[in-house]
Parts: sequence; C-alpha cells; structure tokens
Amino acid sequence: MSANSTTSPNTAPVVDGNGGNPYLEMDLLRFTTAGSVDDGKSTLIGRLLYDTRSIFQDQLEAIEGASRRRGEDYLNLALLTDGLRAEREQNITIDVAYRYFATPRRKFIIADTPGHIQYTRNMVTGASTAELAIVLVDARKGVLTQSKRHGFLTALLGIPHVVVAINKMDLVGYSYEVYRRIMAEYTQFAQKLDIKDLIFIPISALHGDNIVTHSDNMPWYEGATLLHHLETVKLGADRNLVDFRFPVQCVVRPHQDFRGFAGRVVSGTITPGEEIVVLPSGQSSRVRSIETFDGPRQEASPLDSVVLTVEDEIDISRGDMIVRRMNLPTVENRFDAILCWMNEAPLDPAVPYLLMHTTRSVKAFVSRIVYRIDVDTLHREQVDTFRLNDIGRVEITTAQPIFFDPYQINQGTGSFILIHPHTNATVAAGMIRGEVRTADELFPEERAEGRDPVSPGVVWEEWNIPLTEREARSGHRAAVLWFTGLSGSGKSTIARALERRLFAAGCQTMLLDGDQVRHGLCGDLGFSPADRQENIRRVGEVAKLFFQQGSLVLCTFVSPFAEDRERVRALLPEGRFFEIYVRCSLEECMRRDPKGLYTKALEGKIESFTGISSPYEAPEHPEMIAETDSESVDGIVESIVASLEREGILPRAAGT
Ligand code: ADX
Repeated sequence: MSANSTTSPNTAPVVDGNGGNPYLEMDLLRFTTAGSVDDGKSTLIGRLLYDTRSIFQDQLEAIEGASRRRGEDYLNLALLTDGLRAEREQNITIDVAYRYFATPRRKFIIADTPGHIQYTRNMVTGASTAELAIVLVDARKGVLTQSKRHGFLTALLGIPHVVVAINKMDLVGYSYEVYRRIMAEYTQFAQKLDIKDLIFIPISALHGDNIVTHSDNMPWYEGATLLHHLETVKLGADRNLVDFRFPVQCVVRPHQDFRGFAGRVVSGTITPGEEIVVLPSGQSSRVRSIETFDGPRQEASPLDSVVLTVEDEIDISRGDMIVRRMNLPTVENRFDAILCWMNEAPLDPAVPYLLMHTTRSVKAFVSRIVYRIDVDTLHREQVDTFRLNDIGRVEITTAQPIFFDPYQINQGTGSFILIHPHTNATVAAGMIRGEVRTADELFPEERAEGRDPVSPGVVWEEWNIPLTEREARSGHRAAVLWFTGLSGSGKSTIARALERRLFAAGCQTMLLDGDQVRHGLCGDLGFSPADRQENIRRVGEVAKLFFQQGSLVLCTFVSPFAEDRERVRALLPEGRFFEIYVRCSLEECMRRDPKGLYTKALEGKIESFTGISSPYEAPEHPEMIAETDSESVDGIVESIVASLEREGILPRAAGT
C-alpha cells in the first residue's frame, strides 16, 4: 500500500511499511506538524513517508523526474506532499490533509496543516485530535513569533506531546551552539505554557539527519531520532471514557416498527439498559439496543457511529443530546471561551454568528471580549475586536442553550466554530472554558479593577477598632508577606522560621499555608487555573482580615499566576504587601521532592502540577527574592527581617 491522502481520518487505509501483516493490533499515533512556509514541513513529511517506505514506486519516479526537471541535484521530497496537496485542493474546504504511514511498531496519521499565513485556522482545525505536535523551527531563523504561536496553540488545544524539531541543521554547520540556544529560548517561553511533554530534536529533513537514523553529523546529540520518538512516545488514555455524550445526528425510521437515533459517541460509553436523559427536553428513558451496520452491540464507546433505540416513545431530533441520567453536561446559553479568530473581516459583536457545536447550530453573539493574548509575551491586552489570527478570551451568548463541558475535560463537547451568517465562512474556532462566573458577571468592572465583589444589598460598615489603635498596642505595623514559588522551593520552611522569629520578638502573626487552607476553606478547589485563582482570591480576603486585625500575615502559596497575586496586592494599602519570590530551580525542587509529588506528577498521576504540567509565572518585580538554592534559611530570615525594618513595618528593636 502507499501513502495516502484523504480528508477523513476514519477511512484510514492500513499502510504496511514492511510488506507483511496489516498491524491491526498496533496502536495509533495521530500527530500534526506546524511550521511556516519555508521551515521544511513538506520535506519532513516526505522524508518520513520515504524513509518508512510508504511511497509508491511510481510516485517516487515522478518525484525524481520532477526534481531533475527543476534542476535539483537531490530528491525533493517536498514535491511529494505538495503534489498530493495540489491534487486535492480544488474540492475541499478545510485545508487539512491526512497522511498515513506505519512502521512495525505503530501506525501513524499525520494531520498536515499547510503553513501559509492562515496557520491559526489550520492548526485549530487539523490538530484537535492529535496527541503529538511537531513544531518546526528553522535553525537559521531561530524562535520566531510563529514558532511561539504554534506552541501556544498546541498547549491551548491540549496536545500532550510536543517535539520542537530544529530543522536545517545542515545549513548552520550542524552547530551544537545553535541547537542549544534555540532550545534554551524555547524552553523559557514554554515554561509559561501547559505542555506536558516537550522535547527538542536537531534534524535535517532534507538530508535525513536524526529522522530515522542517528546523524553522524551531530555526534553531540544523544537523544532519540524523530521516528524513534514517534514510535515510542507513551500514549496516554486522553480520551474521555467517563462522560457519555451522544449528539443526535438524525432520526432513523426505516419502517413503522423501528425508530432509532443515529450519531457518533463523542465521549463515555453506554450499554443497553442504562438510564438516559435527552437534552434539552429533559425526558428520560433507557437504552433498549445499540445498533450498528454489523448488527447489535453490547457497548458503544468514543468515536463509534451507532444507532440507539430507547424504551419509551420520546421526542428526539437532530441537535439533541443523549446523556446518562446521573452525568449531565452544562446546559447554558452563556459561556466563557478562548476564541481563535481566523477571518480577514474582524469580529463584529453586532453580528449574529452561527455557532456549530456537536450536531447543534444556534445563533450566537460574542457578548464580551475579555482580553486578547499577545502570543510573544503571553500578556493580556484590552481590545475592542479580534482580527485575523488573534486569540483571546470572550463570552458568548447563544439564542438557545447548548450542552457543553469545558474543553479541558471534553474536547468534543468543549469545542465549537463560528460561521458568518452571510458569507458562510468559518470565522473562528473556540474552546469552552466553562460557565460565565457569577462574580465576574455581577461585578465586571470591580473585578477588572481588583475591587471587591459585594453581596447584593450589603453596605460597608467601618471596623470597630481601627487598625492604627491595634498597631499602637502591638508595636509594629500590619503587613502581608506573600511567599510565592514552586512546590518544594522552601516557602513553608522559610515562613515557618520567620514566624517563629517574629513571634519570639513579640509580634502578632498569622501563617496561612496552601496545604492547610486547602483543608476546609478551600477544600472544594482543585488545581485548574480557575480554581487556583479562586484559592488565591479567598486567601487574599482572609489575609486582609488578619491584616485588619493588625497581624503580620505570612502567606505561602504556589500562586503561579501573576494576575492572581496582583489582585491580592490590590486588596491592601500601598507599602503593606510584600511579594517574596522563593526562587529555586525546578531541578532542585524535583530533587528535594519533599512530598513525593513531583515523582507522581512525572508519572502522570497528578494533573496540572506546577512546573511539570502547569505553568509558573515568576514575579517580575517582587519586593524580595529568596534564593533557597544557595542561601541558608537563617540568612534569608534575617534579611527579610532587615527589609521589614527598613520599610518601617518592624521597629528597629524587634529586628536586632
Ligand atoms: S495554588 O497554586 O493554588 O497557589 P497552593 O499553594 O494552594 O496552590 O497549594 C499547593 C500545594 O498543594 C503544594 O504544596 C502541593 O503540596 C499540593 N499540590 C497538590 N496538587 C498540586 C498541583 N497540581 N500543583 C501544585 N501543587 C499541588
């Protein structure tokens, strides 16, 4: 068989690289390639197909002929993919081609997204089912905005494995220094992203260096070749097998006695006899049978196309969703989403776009633009509209409710596209974050400015005993000392020693620690960005209460997001909030691993673990930095005390 090109990944022919059995039992890796026009993506794909012998002899001869005609003295493998693309380009709308190849170890599907200017659209539409992304970087050009954009989108789409292939190493003399520099720069950028597995491979797609065999030109590189990595990368069970979601595509009624509902299982599994609910009507019934083209089945699982029949006569039509009774998605007509804008015409809040979500299409407005993300710096910017390739956070309001889950837990029910009502163009792709949060909804301005939310109808009453009176009695001023840093960096150790020291000097203190607060007050929160934000918000409010009571409040929280820390700062008077960055290299934290959490996180047993699979945004202008790699605990405690004396928080006497 041969390399193939079609627009549907589900009709994948099995490609046999070694002329034997079809490897039906082998697992499958879906991956995507992202690169700009000249990064060598086509050559790389051509090279993979060629070296795994997935090309027809006649195709090969055609390429040889074409290469010669072009006066090229090498086999131009890019012609293979480009040729296939040209063949296909006339009659498809979504510009993604799927190619197949196999080795004795694994089958592969490549979602090939052409690298022209509309890369955002192509990445989003092509990459969403991929488990691995190859981000190509041209060794001569280094890390460009576009390479960052690709990494950013990869993280956004939740693709767990990323390979940065530093290509054209032949054109930089196979220089280790170039490789190292690009790797360092990209690593620094990627630290802010939620990428679970990131590796770098120096290659030359043109000459085949480190693609299938180790390159003699780069003896300094000791890692895996690209193909070896693709063959051996651990494929997690990323598919959601828990939440049964069955968007109904159509009602099948071949004759009077049969009525079934056809569709494709997006996630979860179902068996006959299970109780189901139909959304939006809320009617319930039980599954009677699961029918397929090949006869009835005892179970349907993700991606199966089946026809369900149910026990009761209930009204179901296209666009409805069948789910399990005890496991419902969110049913709402407003939600919070990350939107990638992919049309030349900018976003217009007045246009009723058509939102396509599973099998449902509803009218939708972008009711609020929360921010745009600058992919170079990852900073958030206030804007009025999104233009081509902009990415940012928005709120969407739909005319009828949709049934969704956050993209993070369910890619199928968490993603959507927007279509322009007149031109029919796909203008945006989006990932749902969740419902619009009530506090944000009720107090958008207050929230944006860091002011407090207030329960409706409640009026502020001044504190009974003013802070100044309390401070006069304690002999020191109140302040919040906010320790931020990676897990295992030593925040608690320092804060505990410092509190002892302050307590011994007669100060009024309180220590709030992540591990304690998350028992009780914040015990309902996990480690998603939204939960961490809420964790820090609550802690900030509690710290403010202790502050008001005159204490030196020591807070030790990973608090990985700068914005969350800034909100706490905004709760306190100028000069009373001290951000103390407890800096320690990730390697050292992993070596210490006091609670064994890094080991677990690396084994994939803890999700969103800061530093491993969730980002940490280091403070840009902290009041103090504690280097626990190199300084002693006592030394750090003394220098914090000295700073507090200098700032007038502690009287000189307490610190000497
Ligand atoms: S924060 O991100 O919301 O500020 P917090 O400081 O409260 O986190 O809690 C961090 C503590 O929870 C860590 O010290 C660690 O013991 C534990 N923990 C458990 N899971 C995680 C995780 N996914 N990421 C970070 N810390 C975690």
